[in-house]
Amino acid sequence: MDLHITGGRIVDPGHYEGIGDLFVAGGKIVALVPAGTPVPAGDASKFSHPPSRIVDARGKIVAPGLIDLHVHLREPGFEHKETIASGCRAAVCGGFTAVCCMANTRPVNDDASVTRFVLARAAEAGLARVHPVAAVTKGLEGRVLCDYESLKAAGAAAISDDGRPLTDSRIMRQALERAGRLKLPVISHSEDPFLVEGGVMNEGPVARDLGLAGIPNAAESIMVLREIALSELTGVSVHIAHVSTRESVLAIREAKKRGVRVTAETAPHYFLLTEEAVRRHGADAKMNPPLRSEEDRLAVRQGLADGTIDCIATDHAPHAPEEKAVGIEKAPNGIIGLETAVSLSLSLVRDRVLSLTGLIAKLSTLPARILGIPCGLAQGLPADVTLIDPEFEYTIDPSLFKSRSRNSPFVGMRVKGKPAMTIVDGRIVFEDKL
Ligand code: DOR
Ligand code: ZN
Repeated sequence: MDLHITGGRIVDPGHYEGIGDLFVAGGKIVALVPAGTPVPAGDASKFSHPPSRIVDARGKIVAPGLIDLHVHLREPGFEHKETIASGCRAAVCGGFTAVCCMANTRPVNDDASVTRFVLARAAEAGLARVHPVAAVTKGLEGRVLCDYESLKAAGAAAISDDGRPLTDSRIMRQALERAGRLKLPVISHSEDPFLVEGGVMNEGPVARDLGLAGIPNAAESIMVLREIALSELTGVSVHIAHVSTRESVLAIREAKKRGVRVTAETAPHYFLLTEEAVRRHGADAKMNPPLRSEEDRLAVRQGLADGTIDCIATDHAPHAPEEKAVGIEKAPNGIIGLETAVSLSLSLVRDRVLSLTGLIAKLSTLPARILGIPCGLAQGLPADVTLIDPEFEYTIDPSLFKSRSRNSPFVGMRVKGKPAMTIVDGRIVFEDKL
């Protein structure tokens, strides 16, 4: 379908920001035309007249399709939590045109056959692009490296043992060396399991108050420092998942200054919530790493502002209501995030932590750079586009989630700004009837 997206505020980081029109045909961006400029004749000829759809984007942000580096789609194996189809539906409703899905499924994505299965399911769903993240080690057990060559050939976009800490530093070194040769990004779930022990939330005053076992900041930063050291040793870049502590931010900032090839993501809950949220939301505020102190939250925001933290990812981690209902100590870690991330992240612009372009970059072009995939609204690129209504106010209502799960501490929160349309490969895959 040909699309003429007219009158929107185009925000294409590093390329163009301003009012303009976007023309889409044959699944590609055909032209980006600043307001008041005629369409160049050569570009106009690529476009059918009249276009099959004119999208009135006045008052909307028109951004490159958003990319979530970190989601759990749960299929195969845990379809009661989420399926690839339901997760992709949640993704496009949340404004994401592409998601990277972690390997902690059953079976684990440690074999090309599983990677191919994930991609086949994603193609059937026909919604968001899915980039499978394969395991670093067989069964996520931290002992035997997977065959990255065949995983990459099958379509794996990166490797990570996310959900399970990789404790053996020698294995991590070898993984970096082999993945580096294949230009396969390595994503680290930085956690020292010995320091976590039976911890269920942040170690601090709230845990003491509630009589719960705590997880110290050092459980994360020790491993972040190890990954930095191994990246330096091997010369291979490493991406740190879900940064939650001040010490991790400091370590990454300092490493980047020294020229270490480390990148990092955080998630909306780490820049918006603290351990206090556990009092009210219980297991729906339980995730790994846990919500930290106010000092950590502010450090994460500072890390976003100064570029220490490159991306915002959701760590969308669906769990069924009955699994979360067993009390905070026994409940599994994780919260869903795909359908709330855009609304929540726009607060960073209102709070002047990021410019609008800075925010869009952390949700699109920067994750794309880490994955080594094209992203943007320049002529000839795949037409993955997200429209956002920055003014729409609403209350987060779990009954409207397309995800199969409901585990979110943001339920009931009043927010401003919402995805309005999601376009993948030139096809409208989500359109909000505001
Ligand atoms: O909170 C989390 N949930 N952290 C992880 O590392 C894994 C994830 C999951 O798979 O549920
Ligand atoms: Zn993780």
